[in-house]
Amino acid sequence: MDIPFSTWHRVIEKRRSRRCFNPNLPLAPETLAALEKVCNQFAPFPSARSRLVTESVESVFKGIIGSYGKVKGALAFIAFIGNMDDPFVQEKVGYTGEGIILEATALGLNTCWVAGFFRPEIVASLIEVSSKERVLAVTPVGYARESESWEEKLMNRFGRSHNRLPLSKLVRGLLREKWPNWVNLPLEAARLAPSAANRQPWGFDVQDDGIIVSVRTSGPEFSVSKRLDCGIAMLHLEVAAVDSGCKGEWEFLPSPQVAKFKIRS
Ligand SMILES: Cc1cc2nc3c(=O)[nH]c(=O)nc-3n(C[C@H](O)[C@H](O)[C@H](O)COP(=O)(O)O)c2cc1C
Repeated sequence: MDIPFSTWHRVIEKRRSRRCFNPNLPLAPETLAALEKVCNQFAPFPSARSRLVTESVESVFKGIIGSYGKVKGALAFIAFIGNMDDPFVQEKVGYTGEGIILEATALGLNTCWVAGFFRPEIVASLIEVSSKERVLAVTPVGYARESESWEEKLMNRFGRSHNRLPLSKLVRGLLREKWPNWVNLPLEAARLAPSAANRQPWGFDVQDDGIIVSVRTSGPEFSVSKRLDCGIAMLHLEVAAVDSGCKGEWEFLPSPQVAKFKIRS
C-alpha cells in the first residue's frame, strides 16, 4: 500500500483518544470498506496484522472496573495482533496499529488504543488467532459523542492525558544547533504519539544519519510493553520525515534501544 504520508501527518495533531461513542451513528458501508482496506493493506511486517470486527463489540470492553479503559457505545473495533515468535513484535504492532488509527482519524472517525483493559479471549473467539499470535491491543472505532462524557473529562483532568513532555526531556545525541534540518518535524510528530497511561516512555538519539528510538524510562510496564508505545512513535516519526521529503529505513535494535530510522542518502 502507498502510505498517504501527508494525510496521516496532517491528522497527528488532531487525533485524541475518545472512549464514549454515539451508538446511533453507525459506520456507513463505504467507511467500513475503507477501514477493511487499510487493515488488509497496511501490513508492513509479516508478524503484525489488524482486523476489523463489527460484532459483540460491547462484550470486548464489558465488565472492566474503573473509568480508565471504559469504552461505551462503540459499534466496531479493530484488533491488533502480533506473532510472538518475532522478538520485535511489540514495536511492529504499535507501528502498524498507529497507521490504521491515523487512517481512521483521516476518515473522520474516533479511536482509542486499549491494551490493558479489554478481553483478549473474547476477541480471539471472534477472529482467527493462531497459537503463536496474541491480540496485543484493540481500538474502538466510530463516532464519539459530541461532548466528552464525565468519565472522559475526569480522566483528562487527572491523567493530563493530552499533555506531552518537551523535546528537551526526550532527546539526546547531537547538540540542537548541530541537528540536521530534517529532524525537527519528525521529532515533534513522535513526541505527540499516544502511549499507555500517557507515559511517553520513548527517547530519541539524534545522529547525523538518522534517529534512534529507545525506551527511555525504567519502571513497571503494567502488562503493556513500552516497545509497543515506541512503535507508535516510530510511525509518527517516519510519516513526518517522509512528508518533509526525507525517506529512510528502520533497523530494529535490541533493548533498551528499539530501532534506528536511517535516512537514505
Ligand atoms: C498502547 C496503548 C495502550 C492504551 N491502553 C489504554 C487502555 O487500556 N484504556 C484507556 O482508556 N486508554 C488507553 N490508552 C490511551 C492513552 O491513555 C492515551 O493515548 C494517552 O493518555 C494520550 O492521550 P491521547 O491519546 O488523547 O493523546 C492506551 C494508549 C496506548 C498507546
